Amino acid sequence: MKIACVGGGPAGVYFAISMKLRDPRHEVHVFERNAKGVTFGWGVVFSDQTVENLMANDPVSGQVIADEFAHWDDIDVHIHGSCVRSSGHGFIGIGRKRLLEILASRARELGVEIHYEQECEPDLAAWSGWDFVIAADGINSRFREAYSDHFGVDVQERANRFVWLGTPKTFDAFTFAFEKTDAGWIWAHAYRFADDCSTFIVECSEETWVGLGLDRMDQAETIELCQKIFAKYLDGAPLLSNATHLRGSAAWLKFRRIICERWHYDRLILLGDAAHTAHFSIGSGTKLALEDAIKLAEVLNRPGADRVEALAEYQAERNLEVLKLQNSARNSTEWFETVERYLDFEPWQFAYSLLTRSQRISHENLRLRDSNWLEQTERTFWKEATGEEKSAWPMFAPFKLREMELRNRIVVSPMAMYSAVDGVAGDFHLVHLGARAQGGAGLVFTEMTCPSPAARITPGCAGMWNEDHVAAWKRITDFVHANSKARICLQLGHSGGKGSTQLGWEEMDAPLAEGNWPLIAASNVPWSSRNQAPRPMTRAEMDEVRDQFVAAVRMAVDAGFDMIEMHAAHGYLLSSFITPLQNRRTDEYGGSLENRLRYPLEVFNAMREAWPSDRPMSVRISANDWADDAGVTPGEAVLIAEAFAQAGADLIDVSAGQTWADAKPVYGRMFQTPFSDKIRNEAKLATMAVGNITDPDQANAILTAGRADLVALARPHLVDPMWTLRAAAMANYRDQWVPPPYLGGMAQMARLFEREAEMKAAELKA
Ligand SMILES: Cc1cc2nc3c(=O)[nH]c(=O)nc-3n(C[C@H](O)[C@H](O)[C@H](O)COP(=O)(O)OP(=O)(O)OC[C@H]3O[C@@H](n4cnc5c(N)ncnc54)[C@H](O)[C@@H]3O)c2cc1C
Ligand SMILES: Cc1cc2nc3c(=O)[nH]c(=O)nc-3n(C[C@H](O)[C@H](O)[C@H](O)COP(=O)(O)O)c2cc1C
Repeated sequence: MKIACVGGGPAGVYFAISMKLRDPRHEVHVFERNAKGVTFGWGVVFSDQTVENLMANDPVSGQVIADEFAHWDDIDVHIHGSCVRSSGHGFIGIGRKRLLEILASRARELGVEIHYEQECEPDLAAWSGWDFVIAADGINSRFREAYSDHFGVDVQERANRFVWLGTPKTFDAFTFAFEKTDAGWIWAHAYRFADDCSTFIVECSEETWVGLGLDRMDQAETIELCQKIFAKYLDGAPLLSNATHLRGSAAWLKFRRIICERWHYDRLILLGDAAHTAHFSIGSGTKLALEDAIKLAEVLNRPGADRVEALAEYQAERNLEVLKLQNSARNSTEWFETVERYLDFEPWQFAYSLLTRSQRISHENLRLRDSNWLEQTERTFWKEATGEEKSAWPMFAPFKLREMELRNRIVVSPMAMYSAVDGVAGDFHLVHLGARAQGGAGLVFTEMTCPSPAARITPGCAGMWNEDHVAAWKRITDFVHANSKARICLQLGHSGGKGSTQLGWEEMDAPLAEGNWPLIAASNVPWSSRNQAPRPMTRAEMDEVRDQFVAAVRMAVDAGFDMIEMHAAHGYLLSSFITPLQNRRTDEYGGSLENRLRYPLEVFNAMREAWPSDRPMSVRISANDWADDAGVTPGEAVLIAEAFAQAGADLIDVSAGQTWADAKPVYGRMFQTPFSDKIRNEAKLATMAVGNITDPDQANAILTAGRADLVALARPHLVDPMWTLRAAAMANYRDQWVPPPYLGGMAQMARLFEREAEMKAAELKA
């Protein structure tokens, strides 16, 4: 094959090597616009896994690279004059220039022709004599842009500014240094990649960049200012730039996230940064470029392979890796873009939040890296939570809302059981809620309970509108209080336009076969074309429903609940006022957020008034309609949360979505937790995170990083009422209250977990 690689970066050169290794008869040329030895940037970091992949592909260049790597284990986070050092992170780094020298020399040895100072034109017709043209021309690929319609290119420019500098100061740890200036915060990501050189990337927000005048400075002035700001880390060493081809403030970039729907067109194939990018803060761009090169060479050299199939395999396999990394990279990028919200954290928590920012590194993963540091972090968490240092999982730390004390931070999320008869919670509810309370969670929520028959979602929903309901709920709260240490919260809600539907396990959200009742909501927007259009509420109906909520609150006092929650999420009645997707009103209850919140706040205030002042009250909101600016955005959710907090909400229960039928939520592990993080740390409110949180490791990370104060689990509790007891056994946490008759089981389970851990450790040693 005759192949042209456009671009002499890691992707192009390593692909050329990989082709020649598989078949020396290939004629491979690399065209690079820059002169030999001229490149931007300083060092790049790799993981051990990448080195293994390089060794397997080409032991010759792999060994040279491995021999020259700089290794380091520690990460230092400098903030507010303190340094938090954690260890065991295991990085390796090499200079970009040196890496390219090694690769170019190996490529030449294998017979690749490298042509420097050759600018290639992205016109496929001019490349007619070549079997393939590989567009390895980097993030600003002209070849990708020339055929962008075919590639389906999606570019997202991120908010922060950064500049890639170097310094002869050799850092002995991967160093994050945050400095406050008059114009705002600015920080450096620095690491050593050779005996005499470190990378020093400086990053800040656009406002700080402009505020410091960096937008108007040339390179020398930029460097002078950065040297001044970071003087205490540089010990007199200078900062250097090698982006001489970029003039003035152009050396400051904004990161561009690239995704391509298709990676090849005709004989043109995208490789490396030309096909995709991942933010520099997770240090994976070069790794992805090199691994792309290996895979592409492999599929193109497979004997008898169909080209279309081969390229489809190349894209499918590599894209999966890219998407995984881009997901982590997005979290990491956002962390740095929203760092302001963490800047008043104590240094230990700031560092923890930074280390776990991409959600790739979990709590237990940090323990494996540096158990002493993690233990100290847990102790500090406990000290701040309780005044007492304790080495234990943060999820077991108590939490107080008004006068209600929770034994731990795990919550059974509200879940409709569709098993009530005429709204009366029966034996099923007693056993269901009783078992979960005995299962160790600090707080157990009832399902959405309705203040009138018409407020129900289905005929099986629970109610609180008559004395039978009070008695039924009292039986349950009495049981919970007598037989567990859990507290119990009544969630009160009205179904609005999503009412009069079938039981959850029948046809969800579908109208009843018969016996439907009329619906009311903010406006006459039906949930779907199959559902009734609700009647827009009149003022008289608004009074009536508010009073029904208040009556239900009074009954909740009689029924012995410790806490109540107002359900203003998921497209039900109160949510239908808040979301513009459902609220089309033109009166004072529609339009602006202030108007859309007016009625939900009126109901909340009336409920709060009727609820004892020593008992807490929360509100559940949908923090994202998943409709971009057409619906509630996470930014607006902060304002919504603040409005309820001002009205006396002690906790914001941060859910999302379910406010319109066609929403396409971005699912994933802990997918709604970022909204809780945003509300908690921007509005400084207590929050509860919920949504695909399944294991104690995740709960501990969320709590320690300050992303929420409580962690709610719904589906995991459906099949495991004893979720918290199991976690306590796993952690060998002795202070967990266990129903006395169950103590033997707990002890046995703890022993089994201990044995399992010992066996794993022995396996690892072997
Ligand atoms: C601040 C910063 C820090 C980073 N840190 C890391 C890190 O720690 N670890 C890591 O793995 N990655 C890191 N990266 C990413 C990494 O630099 C890229 O992912 C990697 O270089 C991609 O390799 P590539 O070969 O695809 O593209 P590039 O390295 O960009 O190479 C493309 C080459 O094509 C040439 N070229 C472009 N157009 C033409 C043309 N028309 N004709 C001829 N030649 C052309 C360019 O001159 C260039 O040499 C970082 C990036 C940035 C911006
Ligand atoms: C069977 C079931 C019933 C639910 N009923 C309610 C409810 O009554 N009120 C409510 O606010 N959320 C309800 N939810 C949503 C959960 O409280 C929770 O927010 C959601 O399931 C995401 O958490 P998970 O991933 O831990 O399941 C329900 C969820 C399930 C699975």
